[in-house]
Amino acid sequence: MILKKILILVDNYVWVLYNNNGFCIIIDPGLSEPIIQEIKKRKWFPIAILLTHNHIDHTGGVKDIIKYFPNITVFGPNETKKYGVNKIVKQGDKITILDKIFYVIGTPGHTLGHVSYYSNPYIFCGDTIFSGGCGRVYKNKHLEMYNSIKMISSLPDNTILCCSHEYTLSNLKFSMFFLPNDYFIKSYFKIIKMKINIGKSSLPSYIFFEKKINLFLRTNENCVKKSLGLENSCSSFEVFLNLRLKKDFWS
Ligand SMILES: [Fe+2]
Ligand SMILES: [Fe+2]
Repeated sequence: MILKKILILVDNYVWVLYNNNGFCIIIDPGLSEPIIQEIKKRKWFPIAILLTHNHIDHTGGVKDIIKYFPNITVFGPNETKKYGVNKIVKQGDKITILDKIFYVIGTPGHTLGHVSYYSNPYIFCGDTIFSGGCGRVYKNKHLEMYNSIKMISSLPDNTILCCSHEYTLSNLKFSMFFLPNDYFIKSYFKIIKMKINIGKSSLPSYIFFEKKINLFLRTNENCVKKSLGLENSCSSFEVFLNLRLKKDFWS
């Protein structure tokens, strides 16, 4: 399957997987118009929509897309059911679409019912991990978010991380503030800055890169603890919590 992304709103990506016959799967369509246009332009046949969570920038396009293409199956967690979902999914489910298996991974934290979809080599993780950062945590579910990030980062290093927002540059600035001498983060920042300056995207990313540039995946490292003023004996979760709270007030 071939991966494509469609930029909508300011910084949201709608991900599409399509095959050589033009059948496609749409992930988190926050708007309908640009997606319907792309489907028509490419002569795709949409088969399914996958939803990660109930925020409108991920679900807002579903109702109009299914008016246009009524045979689409819409998969999503329980919290998305009012957005046109006809197949509720939960942690541990395995769904087969176009001969590809999608594993549903419960990734609560950003919302209570957030799920991600893993279909080797892709993970569609919604607002759980962003390149260089992670999603905001609502309702104080920090431990859940920490565990969700751990789960995603335990996937193979070459997993392609399809996150939903282009926040990479600002996330890397946050990382560089705490680790100003980290060679990999600095180099990665330069590359991404060049890409963004010429109108390209920083995404998708890879788990391998995130383990190096994303402080939320490096919470067990003493250099991260030190940069936050924490003792080496601090738990990985305490570091995560500290980082997330700092990021909440960052910009
Ligand atoms: Fe969200
Ligand atoms: Fe979002």
